[in-house]
Amino acid sequence: LPEGMAVYVDPRSHGQGWGERGVLSHKGTYGRCGIVVGQMQGAAMLAAAGAARAGAGLVVLSCDELVSPAVAPDYVVRKEADPLVALADCQSVVIGPGLGKGQALVRKALTASKADTMRSWRGVIDADGLADLIEEGQLLQIGDEWVLTPHPKECALLLGWTTAQVQAKRISAATQLAAQTGAIVLLKGYRTVIARPDGQIRINPTGNASLAVGGSGDLLAGIIGSLIAQGLNGFAAASLGAWLHGRAGELAGAALTPVSTTASDIEKYISRAIMTFF
Ligand code: APR
Ligand code: MG
Repeated sequence: LPEGMAVYVDPRSHGQGWGERGVLSHKGTYGRCGIVVGQMQGAAMLAAAGAARAGAGLVVLSCDELVSPAVAPDYVVRKEADPLVALADCQSVVIGPGLGKGQALVRKALTASKADTMRSWRGVIDADGLADLIEEGQLLQIGDEWVLTPHPKECALLLGWTTAQVQAKRISAATQLAAQTGAIVLLKGYRTVIARPDGQIRINPTGNASLAVGGSGDLLAGIIGSLIAQGLNGFAAASLGAWLHGRAGELAGAALTPVSTTASDIEKYISRAIMTFF
């Protein structure tokens, strides 16, 4: 890596002032994070848990009439055919974990942002939501209100590269995807790369193979969405989110072994990771 090209994520400098809870604060102070619940509810529930543990004042789930998230006492559940109606008062939305293919929700949010200049949607696009970013072989320019969180294979599909090419040139891949979409890009995997559309790069130093388990990425999407709802910009939210998620995974693995750590276990250790700030 050429010197000066990238810096490691430093949780304190990238989350300046984050984590302070004033005596007069209330849940509105810490933002509402909306999670779209789709076909695979478990994934969305992990994202919701990540959002709650990372400190959003309120986590709002949007689902259609047919889906009834298992008992969810920590969340507000809104049954509404249109997630953009259900989540209209949220400061950030998480689109993708467990969504199911072909929802075109991201495109709807972008169209809605253009139609209503008073209300610009922002948040995290992950998993199945990412496929929505390609239209007739072209990547959509979506802007830096959005954080994209592809794993290497998802990144490869968006760029038209192979997964091996992405892994061989992780920094170039993340930079190129950020430049082409105008969004913040977080390329997952060991030493997660976070790229801004102007070419600025960060590398996350935390995390290990304890995180290599289904659902761990869903947690990360919720954590980042939560930090955006709390007022962090996308680059800061992706940086701090990746750091906290990685540290939570390390701590869960140390306590429970990397072999048997599950995504729900990692969720429980997000609090321990946050203790770094206290
Ligand atoms: N070292 C450090 N971090 C790791 C490691 C490792 N060896 N392995 C995995 N991770 C981290 C990644 O950086 C990422 O944050 O674990 C997370 C894995 O996220 P995903 O690959 O999105 O996995 P998952 O949550 O299971 O995704 C669920 O959504 O993206 C789709 O196709 C995916 O069906 C799958 C679903
Ligand atoms: Mg995933």
